[in-house]
Amino acid sequence: MAARLILLVNGPNLNLLGNREPAVYGSATLADHVANVEASCAALGWVVEHLQSNSEADIVGAVHAARGRADAIIINPGAFTHYSWAIHDALAAFDGPVVEVHLSQPLSRESWRHTSVVAPVAIGTIAGFGGVGYGLAVEALSRHFGVAKTS
Ligand code: DQA
Repeated sequence: MAARLILLVNGPNLNLLGNREPAVYGSATLADHVANVEASCAALGWVVEHLQSNSEADIVGAVHAARGRADAIIINPGAFTHYSWAIHDALAAFDGPVVEVHLSQPLSRESWRHTSVVAPVAIGTIAGFGGVGYGLAVEALSRHFGVAKTS
């Protein structure tokens, strides 16, 4: 069987991780998080494609391009989480599982962060565990697909 392909999407401002509000988002860089996802996926024999974009159109385009190609999507939509119905609709048109990840816990922050328009099209949301959340998302997908680690 072909290796599963996981699309990892990180939305606006996440390119600044490492020096963006480290008290909220931690000191690890986006490259660190991507490397962790790649390592967790490699242990399952899975391949990762990563996109970080500050543009809603790029994210919608990447989700469209994943249709019929990727097996699952792990997405931290950044602030788009709270209002991008375009990303919601693109994810709704993707037929594999979607896992929503947040480094911080939006529910314990400002009230405008309490709504996620992505949650209704995700199989689950992992929030508040910092970068560990990305690895937990891979773990959630491995259980969803019912696969065992190869190493
Ligand atoms: C975030 C939470 C969002 O509210 C915020 O706009 C972000 C990052 C997180 O990972 O905690 O950019 O998605």
